[in-house]
Amino acid sequence: MSGFETREAQKPGRTTSAYDWDFLVQDDRVHRSIYADPEIFAAEMTHIFGKTWVYIAHESEVAKPNDFVTRKLGLRPVIVVRDSDGRLRVLYNRCTHRGTTLCRQERGSARNFQCPYHGWNFGNNGKLRGVPWPDGYTQDIRDERFNLAQVPRVQSYRGFIFATLNMDAPDLLNWLGPITRPIDEWLDRNPGGKIVVCEANRFKYKGNWKLAYDNSSDGYHVIYSHRSLIETENRMTAEPNKGMAYYKNSPDSLAMYVQYMGNGHHFKDKRPNLQPRQGGLWALESLHPGMEYYESEFRSRYGERADSLLDLAGSEPVNINIFPNLSLLGNHIQVFEPVSVNETNAVWYGTRIEDVNGDIGDALEGINALRMRTQEGFPNFGEVDDLANFEQIQRGLDCLEDEWIYMNRGYGLPDRIKHNADGTISGPATDEVFMREYIKEWKRLMSGPAHLTIQREP
Ligand code: FES
Ligand SMILES: [Fe+2]
Repeated sequence: MSGFETREAQKPGRTTSAYDWDFLVQDDRVHRSIYADPEIFAAEMTHIFGKTWVYIAHESEVAKPNDFVTRKLGLRPVIVVRDSDGRLRVLYNRCTHRGTTLCRQERGSARNFQCPYHGWNFGNNGKLRGVPWPDGYTQDIRDERFNLAQVPRVQSYRGFIFATLNMDAPDLLNWLGPITRPIDEWLDRNPGGKIVVCEANRFKYKGNWKLAYDNSSDGYHVIYSHRSLIETENRMTAEPNKGMAYYKNSPDSLAMYVQYMGNGHHFKDKRPNLQPRQGGLWALESLHPGMEYYESEFRSRYGERADSLLDLAGSEPVNINIFPNLSLLGNHIQVFEPVSVNETNAVWYGTRIEDVNGDIGDALEGINALRMRTQEGFPNFGEVDDLANFEQIQRGLDCLEDEWIYMNRGYGLPDRIKHNADGTISGPATDEVFMREYIKEWKRLMSGPAHLTIQREP
């Protein structure tokens, strides 16, 4: 990469070879310790949240030079910044003097970051600009070892920024592979193929981060875990077919499906359940206060255009899960942030659209208001069901002698799973094939070596 001259490789010796990975991850089950062992969690912070690409922020959050947000790469605090020259960087949020957190704000705009402890001052390209009373040093404080550490590889795919500490990781586009198709479709239904990330609903749960990733394409739990939400959504409707009601009766006989997309990514596609017409997406949207008013206003103001405009507010029925920490679903972006072996943050960012082509006009505000109301639907009333399950699983993991977690639904049934020409694997909506496949990628990353690298500006 240009602009960097130094590399600091992690000391060799951080190895996971003491574990019997083939015992811990088997074809149809995994051992409780992969969710409960603090040492495995510590290794994940290197072998997963370091060695592979990790979602770190969206470009709309750092749209202009000097914009920044503070995030975590695994447990490492980082500053995602568009520097004064417009280049995206992921700086370690750690002062090189004595190691304190340099920037303590969630977001903002800054040309410099001044350390709150002793006042060392860094440019937003990571270079140390100055220290108080420099005549107190015999060493040259312009030496590059005093510049902030940086993540060496930062790449975006259509606005989604990923970072890795692994110089040998494949190019981002190759690593995403076939999951780019649903990402493209999720974006391209919006004007200009664009979304802008808004503020978030922030949840946390007392459970391992993988419990959320296991669940994010799980079609087996929906009708049981989310029964109260589905009943609420359909209580006032003439036809009880709103929200996720298509999971009632026999979900595996419907056209929706789950698909393993390679490199740990998986996908649940419920769009085949929709009526293929303008307004078909909106027709599925569950009732929420104020919605009828907006809908009747749209119909009287925009006539025949109303259906396609309302579809722009509807929740896209997909779960696009990008290993290890990003999920695109409905109108939302969910990010999983590991905190400890049994604590995770689950953050749901809302999104709005822009009138990129100038053909939405004064309907834009109404569409974005309705999109924000959808942010109050599943994230507030469905996510809590899922988090309760994750916490209860973590309690079950304390039963030391009862060791196994099964991912065996569909396993070994002939003709149930399809191996597709692009290398993806699909199955019916309630199958656990995506779990069995993604955990193999987790095992591959965990059992191999991890050579991580940081860099500093010269
Ligand atoms: S720790 Fe930052 S200036 Fe001392
Ligand atoms: Fe769920």
